[in-house]
Amino acid sequence: MAIINRIAEFHGEMTEWRRDIHTHPETAFEEERTSEFVAKKLAEFGIEVHRGLAGTGVVGTLKGRKGDRAVGLRADMDALHIHEQNGFAHKSKNQGRMHACGHDGHTVMLLGAAKYLAETKNFDGTVHFIFQPAEENEGGGRVMVEQGLFEKFPVESVYGLHNWPGMPVGSFGIRPGPQMAAFDIFEIVVTGKGAHGAMPHQGIDPVVVSAQIVTAFQTIVSRNTHPLDAAVISVTQIHGGDAWNVIPEQITLRGTTRSFKPEVQDRIEENMKRVAEGICSAMGASMSWRYERRYPSTINTEKEAAVAARVAGDVVGEKNVVLDPTPSMGSEDFAFLLQAKPGAYIWMGNGPDTNNRRLHSPHYDFNDEALPVGASYWARLAETILAKAG
Ligand code: NI
Repeated sequence: MAIINRIAEFHGEMTEWRRDIHTHPETAFEEERTSEFVAKKLAEFGIEVHRGLAGTGVVGTLKGRKGDRAVGLRADMDALHIHEQNGFAHKSKNQGRMHACGHDGHTVMLLGAAKYLAETKNFDGTVHFIFQPAEENEGGGRVMVEQGLFEKFPVESVYGLHNWPGMPVGSFGIRPGPQMAAFDIFEIVVTGKGAHGAMPHQGIDPVVVSAQIVTAFQTIVSRNTHPLDAAVISVTQIHGGDAWNVIPEQITLRGTTRSFKPEVQDRIEENMKRVAEGICSAMGASMSWRYERRYPSTINTEKEAAVAARVAGDVVGEKNVVLDPTPSMGSEDFAFLLQAKPGAYIWMGNGPDTNNRRLHSPHYDFNDEALPVGASYWARLAETILAKAG
């Protein structure tokens, strides 16, 4: 493996940082300590620090030798609302919060690359190290883009990385086009007419209406979506009713949809609304409709995905880079950065996912063996894209 020797030398130091951050997990927009940690390290390395985008966001700017070109490298800093079940010394000290997605490792790998690049400056132009809050659910990356991330820190392309349990340490996976799905949520409140459970003819039963809506939604995937396009509609909550013998007035349905292509996403939203309204109207009920787009799909641009794959191959060997991984139905806030700029998002092997070491499991822990792999990838990526002119 072509781990950068200098980065291998501070593997121990990176492991300490990673475990320190793991011990003090912070969730969406509250990453005060983590943000401070990152800003302090960047300043120690002699990197210019900008704070305040999306509140706790940090951007480190490092200039190489000459030229106006610039590239953005992104790590996420937030943890999850999970009660950690691990017993090791660096387990979470913040009750009910846990780094169960490895963003502690992501933060440290980008810091490792920043330290190395600040020492060597073996590139032309500028590297912007982007540390974002609130990747999970709350769209911290979107907020940074809305608050002018790329106006303040213009880049030609931007790159993201996520650890991937189930792939060996020393491997990567990346594909051009969609790599992670779009994630939307919906809420439908069906209003009928409450009645005695023994006298249904006196009311309009929102339970029966809701049951038909849930079933009919499944035909949107099976009948209205191209068989080769992936889509998911999951009704995940049904709320309503209090008594054995009362037909309730209202039922609330909630859930999530996933898709890769924007046109499939548009069609799902339209079809769901039409089907739900049609069933309500046919059965004499009424409804309210809320459909919220959370994250778009994470779509790698072709040229940048190829560069990322080549650099990953330089670090771990070409045969250890999977070029056609099956896209994940999970979602990623980095998608908003990719809507603004060309770029690519890569998965990095984090070792076996046995013993429940899966993302978002209370038994998860980022595999520290992968720290120098990810840091070397980041460093080589910047050096390759911003290769010196002469
Ligand atoms: Ni994550």
